[in-house]
Amino acid sequence: MARGEDRFGSDYLGLLVEAQHDDNDNQRISADKVVDDCKMFYMSGQETTTTLLSWTVFLLAVHTDWQAEARKEVIQLFGKETPHSDGIAKLKTMSMIINESLRLYPPLVSIIRKVEREVRLGKLTLPPNLDLVMLHSL
Ligand code: HEM
Repeated sequence: MARGEDRFGSDYLGLLVEAQHDDNDNQRISADKVVDDCKMFYMSGQETTTTLLSWTVFLLAVHTDWQAEARKEVIQLFGKETPHSDGIAKLKTMSMIINESLRLYPPLVSIIRKVEREVRLGKLTLPPNLDLVMLHSL
């Protein structure tokens, strides 16, 4: 920013800081909002992905046959190149491994919703003001 090359940067934090300096009063966001959003993304993004990656590495260490399959796929697709995001989306075996890791050891095991008005859910009739906890089961 000091060099004036790229005032705010093009990543998510840059977009937030840019919005905080928006000339349009209606679109400008407060510094508190920037901090809130940073905390929100840190909390929702950090623990979830760290947990997923930790379990995936653990599972690959235990199941060395799948480790070999994953390595083979990465080498087939990238050779000696550093993996890049476009190519990562094409890793079919790796995606299966990640999905299995999410199934076995989900970073989030429940979501909570409040029922605002009476609603039918299959055979159930849910009354208003009910806290609904949906659990992931194995
Ligand atoms: C393996 C990784 C992740 C898992 C398993 C995961 C899981 C979830 C789940 C289940 C919800 C819905 C919660 C609910 O509706 O009560 C959610 C919401 C959300 N997640 Fe993630 N998440 C992951 C990664 C991330 C990352 C990397 C970010 C941000 C950088 C993120 C940001 C959010 C946000 C902002 C919401 C709230 C969305 C909304 O309702 O407006 N998550 N996530």
